Amino acid sequence: MQTTPSNEQPATENKLCFASNNAHKLAEIRPLLPPGLTLLSLADIGCHEELPETQDTLEGNARQKAEYVREHYGVACFADDTGLEVAALNGEPGVYSARYAGPQRLAEDNVAKLLRELTGATDRSATFRTVVALVQADGTVREFAGEVTGSITETPRGTGGFGYDPVFVPTEGDQRTFAEMTSIEKNRISHRARAVAKLVAFLNEQ
Ligand code: IMP
Repeated sequence: MQTTPSNEQPATENKLCFASNNAHKLAEIRPLLPPGLTLLSLADIGCHEELPETQDTLEGNARQKAEYVREHYGVACFADDTGLEVAALNGEPGVYSARYAGPQRLAEDNVAKLLRELTGATDRSATFRTVVALVQADGTVREFAGEVTGSITETPRGTGGFGYDPVFVPTEGDQRTFAEMTSIEKNRISHRARAVAKLVAFLNEQ
């Protein structure tokens, strides 16, 4: 665990911040990175403020968060942003997935609203899309995207995962929702895992 406050951290090439404090996401990515590259959370770099996320695309938000960290904390950084794009809702909630049912950002409310909006819909197809933006020490920006297609159930099922997992059945699965799968099963095919795999492949080539 790194404890050095970040404002003092030089933009060295062997340190990389993930603009997140989600322990689960950090633990998932850490073992995949090349040896010698230290992964830092926002807490590790002394960042306790809310990162700006005011763009209207996943790409824009991911990039905005990563660039903010590099500019203010002097460390290379990557950030992710995810949205659920529902065909019958013209791609909504998309970039607004987290606050679909309001600023309280409650998963239960978001899911309830989604099911309400889809009442009677025959086309229930949807895509989870994640964009990861990497801002390197020299300011170069690279983006990596991952997607998984599926459909939205009529009612929530399962207790695993988070967010919209209880109502999302991936096409390449067996009719279980993401919330009915183990995290290992979900991570084999998930949008975020696919975007992160591309990031990791890029970092391993450096
Ligand atoms: P974020 O970009 O990770 O903050 O996610 C944006 C929104 O999408 C939030 O409402 C999350 O709950 C939801 N979300 C992100 N990833 C997943 C996932 O893997 N399963 C279900 N919901 C997700």
